[in-house]
Amino acid sequence: MKIAVVGTGLVGHGWAIAFARAGHEVALFDTKPSQTEATLRRIDTILPELVSFGLIESDGDLRARITAYASLKTAVEGSGYVQESGPECVSAKREIFAALDQIAAPKAVLATSSSGIPISAIAEPLGGRARCLVAHPANPPYLLPIVEIVPAPWTSEKAIATADAVLSGAGQVTVQLKKEIDGFVLNRLQGALLHEAFRLVEDGIATAEDVDRTVRHGLGLRWSFMGPFETIDLNAPGGLSDYVDRLGSMYLRFAQQRGAARPWGPKLVAKVEADRRASLPASALSERAAWRDRQLMALMAQKRMPDTAPANILKDPKK
Ligand SMILES: NC(=O)c1ccc[n+]([C@@H]2O[C@H](COP(=O)([O-])OP(=O)(O)OC[C@H]3O[C@@H](n4cnc5c(N)ncnc54)[C@H](O)[C@@H]3O)[C@@H](O)[C@H]2O)c1
Repeated sequence: MKIAVVGTGLVGHGWAIAFARAGHEVALFDTKPSQTEATLRRIDTILPELVSFGLIESDGDLRARITAYASLKTAVEGSGYVQESGPECVSAKREIFAALDQIAAPKAVLATSSSGIPISAIAEPLGGRARCLVAHPANPPYLLPIVEIVPAPWTSEKAIATADAVLSGAGQVTVQLKKEIDGFVLNRLQGALLHEAFRLVEDGIATAEDVDRTVRHGLGLRWSFMGPFETIDLNAPGGLSDYVDRLGSMYLRFAQQRGAARPWGPKLVAKVEADRRASLPASALSERAAWRDRQLMALMAQKRMPDTAPANILKDPKK
């Protein structure tokens, strides 16, 4: 299938790799041609790394499936699925979707990578709104498989099923939300943790580095292969309800102590920023992001190794 990736920034480049890895022809378009050129150079750097971690067999075939187009029309024409990855801005996304709805084949699904803007705020007036939905990835999508599919009330079951088939077929792991919510599931979970993390620093309980260390060497190690419910299910002899019996009142107390949401004010942000810059100078941010991606490659390669747990323990061993 031809798949168009519209907007070739941070997330667009990752989608290009994910879809081309699955054998699709990927058509790239960005209003800034220099951005697409930079993205192609970036992809050329990443592909040999994926080969070295055993995550793809060869980079040449994959790269040959990615083509940059000079116009939205030529990129989208003939595509069966479009992944919009332009700026996180309602007016920009509305404009792009209005153009996509005019150009794309009637059967093509139009998906947005939107981190929090619901598709109903983007596609409501469009004739083809039934084929529009959110397909929210984590960054970068070729290393973090999760994709949240979030329909508007009017999105058709067919569009949802097609998006799910395209994304699952490309090796992504989909979660279909039952209805729209600001921020979807992933960013709401991340937001809850960030609010608590900022609060712990603001109240002088811990430094930013200590908070990061607690996740890096504690919570995060488990989270790379299980979620919060499975975590507590395994942390009491009688499973999840036993855990809630033992510690539910403690967590309720935390929630009550939290009270009203606190904004992340400039003083607090400057404090956390200073802590981060002491650990990592701003000039090293992109180098560190590339390091993060190589760590993720190693982790994904490890996760692909045969599971050592007996297959009969889990009802669905693929989980
Ligand atoms: N960065 C993340 O971690 C992340 C994760 C998940 C989802 N997202 C979402 O993905 C989308 C893209 O985010 P990003 O981080 O890649 O942003 P980005 O700024 O890196 O890239 C956006 C790209 O869109 C291009 N663009 C602007 N107007 C356009 C138009 N009319 N047509 C085509 N291209 C256009 C820009 O030139 C730019 O290259 C956003 O909606 C964002 O919220 C981001």
